[in-house]
Amino acid sequence: MKLLGIETSCDETAAAVVQDGREILSNIISSQVDIHARYGGIVPEVASRQHLLTAIPIIQEAMAQAQTCWSDLDGIAVTIGPGLAGSLLVGVNIAKAIALGHGLPLLGINHLEGHIYANWLEGRTPDFPCICLIVSGGHTDLLLMRGQGDYLALGRTRDDAAGEAFDKVARILGLGYPGGPAIEQAAPGGNSTLHRLPRAWLRGSDDFSFSGLKTAVLRLFQGGPAAADVAASFQEAVVDVLVTKTVEAARRLGARQILLGGGVVANRLLRQSMAQRSPLPVLSPSPTLCTDNAAMIACCGYFHLKAGNISGWDLDIAPNLRLP
Ligand code: KG4
Ligand code: ZN
Repeated sequence: MKLLGIETSCDETAAAVVQDGREILSNIISSQVDIHARYGGIVPEVASRQHLLTAIPIIQEAMAQAQTCWSDLDGIAVTIGPGLAGSLLVGVNIAKAIALGHGLPLLGINHLEGHIYANWLEGRTPDFPCICLIVSGGHTDLLLMRGQGDYLALGRTRDDAAGEAFDKVARILGLGYPGGPAIEQAAPGGNSTLHRLPRAWLRGSDDFSFSGLKTAVLRLFQGGPAAADVAASFQEAVVDVLVTKTVEAARRLGARQILLGGGVVANRLLRQSMAQRSPLPVLSPSPTLCTDNAAMIACCGYFHLKAGNISGWDLDIAPNLRLP
């Protein structure tokens, strides 16, 4: 079965064709990062206008690269949320038009579930029950996944998301936007043991909190230390909390594996440290499949199609969607 995936929830316009939820036939991503970098962050109105300009050419490119025509497709999967309302509307309406025009099933996908399903791409088959950590620009969610589409929410951030903390701290340190890659690049040039930054453990809870750490960075940096030293300490503090709490939850709940997803998982220290400190196998998508893409949406759509979860023509965006 071949599915076309469409993703326009934030600042990436993406389209992909995936076979049987596993084999990526094409995966095209047009990033708006250079446009938003001028403003130091995402401007929602600019994002939706940009999606309007690029979505159709990106979809055509994904279809051409996959050497697929409309009659070869078995469904259209599209992100319905969470995300920016105007941006989501562009993707959902284009997906509806294509599905209706070609008589194809339409599958509305939760972007967060897509980040988890990126672990099914590249030939892997995760084992249940597993603990999923989703760390992106807008979310830090810890879940127990008991089977396909069967989730129990364990914890989430009470304030800033992990990626948001990277972005805000990079701005404080003058490292630019987006912050995650900028901090990862600056950190190896610094000494992570020079400044000890606080960790919010929130013991007895699977929730996270990163706003205190961000404030501590702001105060510390006003004292005039080197940005690279602060970046290294900050990265270490975030990774320490994410790894410790994920591994603890996996042990406590008898999980067989840990699955990682979301843009922050592109971070090498997080990947290495989770793999080193977890007694269980840790699965994470390749870095380019951690950040927003449409292959993960097509993959997730395949499992929904198999389960018969087909959306109606009244499918709407859900900017504040959660998982489960
Ligand atoms: O999943 P994603 O592409 O978009 C959302 O769904 O939000 O995640 C974007 C977030 C941004 O906050 C970005 O700074 C962060 O992921 N990020 C990273 C890295 N690459 C992207 N954070 C840390 N290290 C990285 N290498
Ligand atoms: Zn995302």
